Amino acid sequence: MINIETQYAGLTLRNPLIVGSSGLTSSADRNKSFEKAGAGAIVLKSLFEEQIEMQSVILMKDTDYPEASDYIREYVKANQINNYLELIKKTKAICSIPVIASINCYKADAWIDFARQIELAGADALELNVFFMDTDLTHDYDATRALYVNIIRKVKEIVKIPVVIKVGKYFSNIPALVHILKINGADGIVLFNRFYRPDIDINTMQLVSGNVFSNHSDLSDTLRWTAIVSGKIPEISISASTGVHDWEDVIKCLLVGASTVQMCSAVYTHGAEIISQVLTCMEEWMNQAKYNSLSQFRGKLNYANIQNPGMYERSQFMKYFSNRD
Ligand SMILES: Cc1cc2nc3c(=O)[nH]c(=O)nc-3n(C[C@H](O)[C@H](O)[C@H](O)COP(=O)(O)O)c2cc1C
Repeated sequence: MINIETQYAGLTLRNPLIVGSSGLTSSADRNKSFEKAGAGAIVLKSLFEEQIEMQSVILMKDTDYPEASDYIREYVKANQINNYLELIKKTKAICSIPVIASINCYKADAWIDFARQIELAGADALELNVFFMDTDLTHDYDATRALYVNIIRKVKEIVKIPVVIKVGKYFSNIPALVHILKINGADGIVLFNRFYRPDIDINTMQLVSGNVFSNHSDLSDTLRWTAIVSGKIPEISISASTGVHDWEDVIKCLLVGASTVQMCSAVYTHGAEIISQVLTCMEEWMNQAKYNSLSQFRGKLNYANIQNPGMYERSQFMKYFSNRD
C-alpha cells in the first residue's frame, strides 16, 4: 500500500500536490472541485495590500470631504477583507483538505491585522507573498532582507497557524535568506513565485504583458534552489513552485527535497483533471521503483545527498558550456 501523505509547515497533507494561489482558487466551489480531483491542499488567491489601497484612492478622488474619504477608505478595506474572509469560511465549510490563505504584502505593518482575521476565519495556514520591486539606487540589500525578516516576525507574533513565505528568485543568496527567515519563525518557504513578465511589441512600440503562464523550462531554477536549500536547511519545509507541469516534474521536486509541490499554470491549461492524472502516474512510478512512502526518496538528489553538489552551482554550469564547440 503506497502512502503519499506529507508533512508541510506543520500541516499533514494527504499528498504533496497543492493548487497554487491564483484566480483558480478564488471560488469555494472551484476549490471543492480541486479537492475532488485529489489536491492535497489549496492556497487561496492572495488578498493584495496594494489592491485594497488602490481602490481606496480611486474612490477618494470622487469626494472633497475628508471625513467621507476616511469612511470610504475604511468601507472599501472592510469589504475587501470581508469578501476574503467569506471565501475562507465557505471553502472551509465544504473542503476537508487544508486551506492556506495568502496575503500579498510589501510593508511590515499596515496589513498585520488581516493575518489575525484570516486565522479567526479558519485558515489552516498563511502564505505570505512578499514582494516589492526594489529599484531604488540608494537601497541596500540588507534593508530588503530586513523587511522580509520584520514581516515574518510581526506576523508570527500575531497568529498561531503556520506561516509560510513565498519568495521570488531574484536574491543574491537564497539559502541565506531562507535561513534567516527560518530563524525568525517561518514554518515553510515557497520557491518560487513567478511575477508579471513584461515584453515589447515592436510593431506598436508598446510595453505588453509577456507569457502569463510558465513552461517546463522554468522548472530548472526551482529544482536547483530547492535542492540547495533543502540540503543546507533540512529543517524547513519547502514547497516547490514554478514550472511544475506534469507528474515527472512533481517527482523531480520531491527528489530534490520539496515537501510539497504547487501547480498553477498547468491547472489553468489542463483543468482540475491534471491533479488526478499526476497522482495516478506518481503512484505508478513509486510502485515500479518499490517506494511505499515519499520519505523513501524525498531529498535523495538534494545538495546534501548527491556526490557532486557543485552540479547545482553556477560555476559548474558555466564549465559545461565552455566545453561545448
Ligand atoms: C493568472 C495567475 C494569477 C496568479 N495570482 C497569484 C496570487 O494572487 N498570489 C500569488 O501568490 N501568486 C499568484 N500567482 C502565481 C502562482 O501562484 C505561481 O506561483 C506561479 O504561477 C508559478 O507556478 P506555475 O509555474 O505552476 O504557474 C498567479 C499566477 C497566475 C498565472
